Amino acid sequence: MKSANFDLLMNGFTIRSMVPDDIIEVKALVATTPGLALWDWETDENLARSLERNPGLAQVALDWKTRKGRPEIAGAVLIGEGHMSMIHHLAVKPEARGHRLGTRIVRAGLKRLFQMEDAARRVYITTLRDNLGAQLFWSKFGAEKQAHGDLCLFTLNLNDEQHRIWLQD
Ligand SMILES: CC(C)(COP(=O)(O)OP(=O)(O)OC[C@H]1O[C@@H](n2cnc3c(N)ncnc32)[C@H](O)[C@@H]1OP(=O)(O)O)[C@@H](O)C(=O)NCCC(=O)NCCS
Repeated sequence: MKSANFDLLMNGFTIRSMVPDDIIEVKALVATTPGLALWDWETDENLARSLERNPGLAQVALDWKTRKGRPEIAGAVLIGEGHMSMIHHLAVKPEARGHRLGTRIVRAGLKRLFQMEDAARRVYITTLRDNLGAQLFWSKFGAEKQAHGDLCLFTLNLNDEQHRIWLQD
């Protein structure tokens, strides 16, 4: 049976942890994705510090079919761990959607989080109320909708049985 990684490679994508050199491209992706916005304090320096504080958690999907001699970032997600864990700025370029890149980069980051002994395993995600696509995505991912105001709040409990299979594969 073909693995999901094989399918990803056949479509010209790979996934790896985000590094500081990715930040400019990730910010451009977030800034051009409707429904997402960068806060003033999310400077290159602050985002680099966040990567340092959360080693390996943020992920990027690389598209190698660019003919530019280097891959382009087709998707990104930031994950921060503290008193609770938070997912921010999940984005996949429109032309790269539907290949499960969103699911794969979130899973890759959460697997790293799950492997950290003391990490908060309750994960919070917020979406704008009118971002129905994101809400469908998170519901399909297995996140639970907790509140619905101007912002929707979703939570994921990584200790839940339903997440064990992909967290430990
Ligand atoms: C949300 C987003 C990251 C999904 O990326 P993606 O790579 O296309 O998602 P996946 O292929 O992993 O989709 C997983 C599942 O969610 C569903 N899904 C994803 N986006 C969806 C949408 N806009 N509407 C309905 N369902 C959607 C897929 O159909 C798939 O369902 P399946 O398991 O039944 O096949 C992407 O659409 C995006 O960047 N949106 C704009 C930014 C955004 O809203 N980010 C989230 C902020 S919290």
